[in-house]
Amino acid sequence: MTTLHHNMSLKDEIRDFWSMRSETFDTQPGHEIFSPEERQAWLALFAGHIGRAEAGGAKALDLASGTGVISLLLAELGYGVTGLDLSEAMLARARAKTAGKPIRLYAGDAEDTLEEGDSYDVVATRHLVWTLPDPPSAFREWFRVLKPGGRVAIVDTDMTNPRPGNGKVLRLLARLAKRLSNPRPPAPYMATHENIVSRVYFSGGCRPEEVARLLSEAGFADIVIDRDLRAIHRAQGRFMPLYQRLERASQDRFLVCARKPG
Ligand SMILES: C[S@@+](CC[C@H](N)C(=O)[O-])C[C@H]1O[C@@H](n2cnc3c(N)ncnc32)[C@H](O)[C@@H]1O
Repeated sequence: MTTLHHNMSLKDEIRDFWSMRSETFDTQPGHEIFSPEERQAWLALFAGHIGRAEAGGAKALDLASGTGVISLLLAELGYGVTGLDLSEAMLARARAKTAGKPIRLYAGDAEDTLEEGDSYDVVATRHLVWTLPDPPSAFREWFRVLKPGGRVAIVDTDMTNPRPGNGKVLRLLARLAKRLSNPRPPAPYMATHENIVSRVYFSGGCRPEEVARLLSEAGFADIVIDRDLRAIHRAQGRFMPLYQRLERASQDRFLVCARKPG
């Protein structure tokens, strides 16, 4: 029997929001990969933290696999991939893109995967943690499904607080550039987005140090925060207007990697 999660109504809204976004998700730079340079930069980032899979069937779990962008990268690194996502509409797009690859996809909740314990070499996820209602319990769940010695790699963005160093200046420049560039009005879905953000755990911003602290509480070791995603952002920026490039450069974009001891 399936038990209902105490915050299922918020998750229903999150699922419906992404189902609505699924139609245009892959048309947006920053979501789908638009150039070989960007693909190479993502592969290098993941390979640097989780390594390539050795022959012998290493397994990766891509949580919130969306339209399959990260699942495809993990497969390219040699992993047998399982991807799960709340949204059937996102999964449908992912299935079309990943046909014929060693990628299995299903509808599920990243906070309660129902996967066997000690069964994955890697848990990877991009742009999920900021929207989790309960990351402390999610991280305990990811710890549970990893084999001893397995790694978790979390890519995300703090969209609220500017990145350390020059983030505040870049944010001002982005606002100025936006005013001068006659940008399109905000998408109609932004109100729903903001409403969801106001109710999730990281409503004040998804700070990588807080992600690292929660990973440590869940039992993870060797926690590394990597903010050097410049090669990826340079490649993505070629497909964005100046104000958007500055806006994204002002945000704290990061990967946090950690290891399950053993
Ligand atoms: C910004 S998209 C990222 C998709 C993909 N990871 C990528 O980077 O291209 C967020 C995805 O998270 C999914 N999602 C949100 N909360 C989830 C949860 N609790 N469990 C599984 N998927 C979830 C949404 O359905 C959506 O596909």
